[in-house]
This record gives sequence, C-alpha cells and structure tokens, in this order.
Amino acid sequence: MSSSTMVVSMWVPPLRHPRLLLPLLVLLLAEVAPVHGGYGKPSLLRVGFYKHSCPDAEAIVREVVGQAVGDDQTVTAPLLRLHFHDCFVRGCDASVLLNSTQTNTAEKNAKPNHTLDAFDVIDAIKEKLENKCPRTVSCADILAIAARDAVSLATKVVTKGEWRKDGNLYEVETGRRDGLVSSTKEAAAHLPDSFDGIQKLISRFASKGLGLKDLAVLSGAHALGNSHCPSLEKRLRNFTAQYDTDPTLDAAYGATLRQQCGKPEDNETELAMVPGSSTTFDATYYSLVAEKKGLFHSDEALLSNGATRMLVYGYIRSEKRFFGDFGVSMVNMGRVAVLTGRQGEIRTRCAVVN
Ligand code: HEM
Ligand SMILES: *[C@@H]1O[C@H](CO)[C@@H](O)[C@H](O)[C@H]1NC(C)=O
Ligand SMILES: *[C@@H]1O[C@H](CO)[C@@H](O)[C@H](O)[C@H]1NC(C)=O
Ligand SMILES: *[C@@H]1O[C@H](CO)[C@@H](O)[C@H](O)[C@H]1NC(C)=O
Ligand SMILES: *[C@@H]1O[C@H](CO)[C@@H](O)[C@H](O)[C@H]1NC(C)=O
Repeated sequence: MSSSTMVVSMWVPPLRHPRLLLPLLVLLLAEVAPVHGGYGKPSLLRVGFYKHSCPDAEAIVREVVGQAVGDDQTVTAPLLRLHFHDCFVRGCDASVLLNSTQTNTAEKNAKPNHTLDAFDVIDAIKEKLENKCPRTVSCADILAIAARDAVSLATKVVTKGEWRKDGNLYEVETGRRDGLVSSTKEAAAHLPDSFDGIQKLISRFASKGLGLKDLAVLSGAHALGNSHCPSLEKRLRNFTAQYDTDPTLDAAYGATLRQQCGKPEDNETELAMVPGSSTTFDATYYSLVAEKKGLFHSDEALLSNGATRMLVYGYIRSEKRFFGDFGVSMVNMGRVAVLTGRQGEIRTRCAVVN
C-alpha cells in the first residue's frame, strides 16, 4: 500500500508532454487498482476504521469473544472458520451469516457449511454494538475482528503476553460493508473441498487473489477445532478405484480413524484436527502433516508442491514465523472482494438484510 502512495505522490504528470499523459495515467491506475480480484477496494480498508465512529468497537468484540472463550474454549475454531467461509464466497461481506428466506437458500444451508457454528457469539456482539453505535459496525467486520480475537486467545504465546502488548496476533483491517446476497450454490462452488489436491487448492486460492504462501499458512488454521466423519469418509474407505485408503494418510492413523468412524454418515463423533491440542493455536499441525497425519487430503496436499512443502517444514522449525505469516495472510484473506464506501449496507441484524 505504501508503495502505491509513493508512486502517486512522486509521479506528477508532466503537462509539458501531453502525449505522455495517457501511458502515465494507465501506469498510475494500475498501481492504485486493487490487487485482490473482484469489485472490492482493499485500499479503503484500514486498521482502526471505527476509531472515531465507534471507538470501543474492537474492545466490545474482544470482550464478548473473551467471555465466550471463557465459557467454552472450543468456540475459537468456529469463529475463525466463519471468517474464512465468508471471504471465500462473494468476498468478506457477511453473506455467510444470512438466513435462508422463502425464495432463497443461503450459504449457511450449503453442504460445506455443515457444522458451521458460533453464530450466537456474532449475534451477541452485534447486539452490543447496535446498542453502543447503531448502524455503524458491519457484520463483515465483526467476523474479521472476532476471528482475529479467537485466534489470538487460542495462541499460547499471546496469553503469556509474549507476542504483542495488545494481546493480538495481528492488527485487523476494518471498513467492510455487508452484502445483500447469499447463495447456497456459490458456497458449494467456491469453498475448497477436503479431497482437493494441490492444483485445485492453488487455483481456488488464486481465484481469490491469494497465493501459495497464503494457502500453506492459512491451512494452519486446522491447528484448531474438529472435523466429522463425513468429511473423511472417502479418504478412509473409498479413495480411488485402486486404493481404498488415501495413500497420503498414515496407515496406522487411518486404521484408528476408520475405527472412530464406524458409520460413514456419523455426524456426531468429533475428530480433533490436532489430537490433544485442538484448542491451542500453534504449529503442531505442520508436524502432523509432515507425518501424514493431517485429517484431510487437502492438508497432505501441501507436501506435493515444492513451495508449500518448504513452508510446511519452515513452520515446523519456526513457530514464530508461522504466527507472523499467519497474520499477514489473514489480512490478505480479509481483503478478498470486500464492499467498501457506499457499497452494500450496515446490517442491523446479521442474519437478515435491512
Ligand atoms: C485449504 C482448504 C481448506 C479445506 C479443504 C478445509 C476444509 C475443512 C473441513 C472439511 C473442515 C471440517 C468440517 C467438519 O467435518 O465438521 C474444516 C474445519 C475447519 N476449518 Fe477448514 N478448510 C480449509 C481451509 C481453512 C482456512 C483457510 C481456515 C481459516 C483461516 C479454516 C479453518 C477451519 C477451522 C478453524 C475448522 C474447525 C472448525 C470447528 O472445529 O468448528 N479452514 N475445514
Ligand atoms: C447446513 O445445511 C444443512 C442442510 O444442508 C442444514 O440442515 C444445517 O442446519 C445448516 N447449518 C447451519 C449452521 O445453518
Ligand atoms: C465408492 O466409489 C465409487 C466410485 O467412485 C462409488 O460408485 C461407490 O458407491 C462408492 N462406495 C461407497 C461405499 O461409498
Ligand atoms: C446427522 O445425521 C442424522 C442421521 O444420519 C440426520 O438426521 C441429521 O440431520 C444430521 N445432522 C446434521 C446436522 O447434518
Ligand atoms: C436466523 O435463523 C436462525 C436459525 O434458523 C434463527 O434462530 C434466527 O432467529 C434467525 N434470525 C433472524 C434474524 O431471523
């Protein structure tokens, strides 16, 4: 961002050479144009967007998220995941929060949604914010801040006060507006699938303006939370015609998982992403991936590309680097196709358009 600002202030079009104007303008526009695909204007997002309009906005989100985590440590995972599902479908516009209506089936009710959770936490935050600053803070921003707070609270070093003074893993940009549309079909089309291979994952992320590093480091979100048998079934018993088990899954671990998932359609058994530490945000996930003990084919796919594989091993060596890169990529993801300025609206209730 600072580089485009520099270019703007340095390149005053030289009026004495009018024929240079057009190429210069093109250059300027190219520099200023958003890098992240779609109609959003990431340059209008900024840290502290509500500084004057609702100074306590971030503190209120933190308070409610902190209470929710105090009551139930497992709430951090669904809060983080909600922001991801929001951003990958129609950009970060809180479309994931909209309820279906009589004439429209929303994202929430798409297949990959199953097991989305923590909507009640978002609603509680929104209620408090509406009381304090009516029609000011968007639901899309609440998702972004809550995800940042959840992951910060789940990070050991943060709770020990060794990360940043403000207890945050990274600074979150705000200024998003809420969209008016939510579509179950789009959710099915845009969200990555747990059986995706590396090429599919790369192209899905690329279609959101996100690169290999974003893919590798954001997959580290699977340090937190649980999965359910239907998300693994194909991998355990019916992977290809040749292998009934996914060859990228450790055989012994596969046998354990098959035992846990006796009934393929069992949607109640919870499978920890990182057994024994699924409420702690750390780099243990990458050690599991390196041992072929990631839960999903998509987790193991990170080993089948040179660049993503190198990042996996890098994060095993340096958790600190993982935390740093994670924050950068969360900011990148939070910019995907956002609505800003006068686009969209500020919803008063996150589940319905105004
Ligand atoms: C790279 C492609 C990705 C795929 C294929 C994928 C797929 C999945 C699947 C299948 C589940 C389990 C659903 C269930 O069975 O209940 C899951 C859970 C989860 N995902 Fe991802 N995911 C991906 C990327 C991400 C990203 C980028 C984030 C966040 C930045 C994320 C955060 C989470 C979290 C926190 C959970 C646990 C949720 C809970 O415990 O409630 N995932 N993911
Ligand atoms: C997800 O969709 C299923 C139907 O496909 C629905 O039964 C379930 O309630 C939805 N989950 C949420 C959180 O809305
Ligand atoms: C396994 O996969 C094949 C083809 O991919 C499919 O026809 C079959 O129904 C699957 N079996 C089970 C038990 O899911
Ligand atoms: C879980 O599975 C049962 C039976 O297989 C089904 O009735 C129920 O709707 C499922 N729940 C969800 C949340 O998908
Ligand atoms: C949205 O749907 C949920 C669950 O179906 C319901 O509890 C909630 O009241 C709805 N919200 C609004 C604002 O209609």
